[in-house]
Amino acid sequence: MTISMVAKHAKWPAKADAIFAIAGKAQEAITKYGKENVTNSTLGALMDDDGKLIAFDSVFGVLKDMPNEEISAYAPIAGMPKYLEAVEETFFAGYKPDAHIRVVATPGGTGALKVAMWNYTEEGDEILTSDWYWSPYNTISEEAGRKISTFQLFSDEGNFNITDFKKRFKEILNKQDRLMAIINTPAQNPTGYSVSDDEWDEILAFVKEEAKNPDKKIILLVDTAYIDFAGAENEKRAFFTKFSNLPDNIFVMAAFSTSKGYTMYGLRLGALIGMSSNEEIADEFRVSSLHSGRANWSNGNRGAMLVVAEIFNDKELSEKYTVEKNEWKGILRRRAEAFVEASEEVGLELLPYRDGFFVSLPCDKPYEISDALIEKNIFMVPLGKGIRFAVCAVSEEKCRKAPKVIKEVMDRFK
Ligand SMILES: Cc1ncc(COP(=O)(O)O)c(C=O)c1O
Repeated sequence: MTISMVAKHAKWPAKADAIFAIAGKAQEAITKYGKENVTNSTLGALMDDDGKLIAFDSVFGVLKDMPNEEISAYAPIAGMPKYLEAVEETFFAGYKPDAHIRVVATPGGTGALKVAMWNYTEEGDEILTSDWYWSPYNTISEEAGRKISTFQLFSDEGNFNITDFKKRFKEILNKQDRLMAIINTPAQNPTGYSVSDDEWDEILAFVKEEAKNPDKKIILLVDTAYIDFAGAENEKRAFFTKFSNLPDNIFVMAAFSTSKGYTMYGLRLGALIGMSSNEEIADEFRVSSLHSGRANWSNGNRGAMLVVAEIFNDKELSEKYTVEKNEWKGILRRRAEAFVEASEEVGLELLPYRDGFFVSLPCDKPYEISDALIEKNIFMVPLGKGIRFAVCAVSEEKCRKAPKVIKEVMDRFK
């Protein structure tokens, strides 16, 4: 290209989204060989055993019964008050920390992550997250002139690598006055790891120690996109209470999403939740989040907000939604168990899976292995340090069969 019109900061290399590209190839293979002969484990969305997207009846029934003008009207910039209340209650589900809490609506979890990264880091800052991470963290931070730095997620024993977390945290905090750490838990994308309550104790004990230096500001951003599919009941939310009575210079935010929990992926609704011991800091969070909302998307999807509010307020509806969600949670667990068991049987190495939509396999040549698996009609997403299998999108039967083939293919690259 000889001429470029775009401003300097908006100039990026043209590259196709890797996940959507490989998902497209899987679709072509389905047309050619039939869906029963193809394992499409690419997209991070719940699918039935035939590969059809699951959209909860209990959710979309409410939306479709809503008067047009309710869906059509603008919502307040902060979000519909009923929605914000429903989010606060269902998100913490009895595990509310002793803190001042503010909730602001955003377009999806992505919108929440964007607001948090933009408002709580300075230009040029490094943002710390684990070496296995959801790649849009990088896109969001680089667009804002920030940079993702990583720590090793796993210790040799397959636990949260607190040693490397501390090391990298200290290194960056020596260079910057503030540091944001993004922790995607429970049910991390792409590994399916969930930070345990004991590991949270270690993380918080460490950051409290670092926060004794009053010149430092510590920001924890918990990405909870998959929380609705973690654990049996609400026990995977218990760590929220640990965010009680933190020093003023530790600010915690959670990025909430309705994409997975309500299957409202395309309706684009989430929230950013801020928690502080200090009321002024919580209010300041709200003011800056509202400014970002106005500057970027103005306001959110009112119909989707009302769906969440109605499910929360209507007992019968709420039960219907819970039954539907739990049914899929069970199917997801059985698929993941089938994949993990079959992997153990054939000696296929997996990263420690605890909950959620994905299982990841470490390897040195992810792109070559992904290509070789395509020859076997197994479609997996190559990542920087391995390949990802989306159990959310594959039947239990195929989850049980795939590990043997994956192992054979991976062995060829040793
Ligand atoms: C780790 C992670 N965080 C956040 C999101 C946000 O999703 P959404 O913007 O659809 O809420 C996703 C979606 O795939 C994700 O995988």
